[in-house]
Amino acid sequence: MIRFPDGFLWGAASAPHQIEGNNTNSDWWAREQRSPGMERSGDALDSYHRYAEDMQLLADAGLNSYRFGIEWARIEPTPGHFSRAELAHYRRMIDKALELGLTPVVTLHHFSSPLWFDEEGGWMSERFLERFTAYVTEVTSILDGVEWVCTINEPNMLAFMVRMLKDHLARQNEGWTSPTVEDPRRTHLPDPDPEATRNLIAAHHAARAILRERTSAKVGWTVANEALVPTAGNESVWQEIVDARENPFLIGARGDDFIGVQSYTSQTVDANGIVPHPELPDNTLVGTAYRPDALGIAVRHAWEVTQGVSIMVTENGIATADDAQRIRYTDGALRALKDVMNDGITTVGYLHWSALDNFEWGHWAPTFGLIAVDRETFVRTAKPSLGWLGRIAATNGRALDEASSE
Ligand code: FCB
Repeated sequence: MIRFPDGFLWGAASAPHQIEGNNTNSDWWAREQRSPGMERSGDALDSYHRYAEDMQLLADAGLNSYRFGIEWARIEPTPGHFSRAELAHYRRMIDKALELGLTPVVTLHHFSSPLWFDEEGGWMSERFLERFTAYVTEVTSILDGVEWVCTINEPNMLAFMVRMLKDHLARQNEGWTSPTVEDPRRTHLPDPDPEATRNLIAAHHAARAILRERTSAKVGWTVANEALVPTAGNESVWQEIVDARENPFLIGARGDDFIGVQSYTSQTVDANGIVPHPELPDNTLVGTAYRPDALGIAVRHAWEVTQGVSIMVTENGIATADDAQRIRYTDGALRALKDVMNDGITTVGYLHWSALDNFEWGHWAPTFGLIAVDRETFVRTAKPSLGWLGRIAATNGRALDEASSE
């Protein structure tokens, strides 16, 4: 019997730069204009103007939550100048979500930063803390009634990207591959930059203190969980790897109100390190292995390392053109999640990545969405997977039981 607790959040997730369009004041926008091989976000899905329609589709399907982000580059176009109009825009988004019965889960930083912050040195500059906390303080003015706030999305990926983006610019003639897309030129992503790791943890802790003082929101951050599993005898190799790539960020979440788990796939670790994804016919559009069981592994690891911080699955999904495969994947992931919940791991929600087929950090081909979007007309079309997840949401998981007895 599959039961989820009352009040469980069932939703979908997005990130501003990936859906809004014309995020022209951001570091990612600048990068897209000058980097060979990188596709541009451009108008993206025009969700900046069409967010109400996006949310309506999620609510109509039966979901009760939506994770979306606030774009720092819009809120603070030049250092110290905060746009009241942009703050009001994001407040309208929060109001719309609440009106539709979608509990907002609001991310304050999802990979993109204002270009000026990047030019100043970004997370490696001497002023990173002052800059980020000034932005967070300003944003608290629109968070009334918001119960869940994620400070920084995937700080481990961000700390890795600090390194990757510099390298890419240094090698202008090489094609771009998003960090979320497998690339045969690298067997796996290198480790996060240690200084960026320290700085991001400091930024998260400072933001948490500000949010707790000025709002009633529950505060956490969201970590990229690789669900790495040691092969027999290689536990120490595994330990060293997770200690560099994941654990500092999970330890940094101790004392938070929740930890966002973001899981897509799983890999083993042998004596040589992370074993590349096998080349199988059901590999995803980003080249990763089809592993619905990854979510259970990721949640257990996050629970152990945070020493029992409540879990919120803030991202889980699959890049596929086959929506039936998306449903199979998500069905498997939810069963894995329920198994770990049955073992006593407190879990408050499941937010699918992604609400919409969106801009995958330099690529448009990998489609993760529950909703397809025509990028010429911006017409949205719900996929069967949205209705499927909505039925599970509306029955608080009972529809999963029905599926198994069919
Ligand atoms: C995560 C990111 C998200 C999206 C998914 C596929 O690493 O947080 O924006 O790119 O991967």
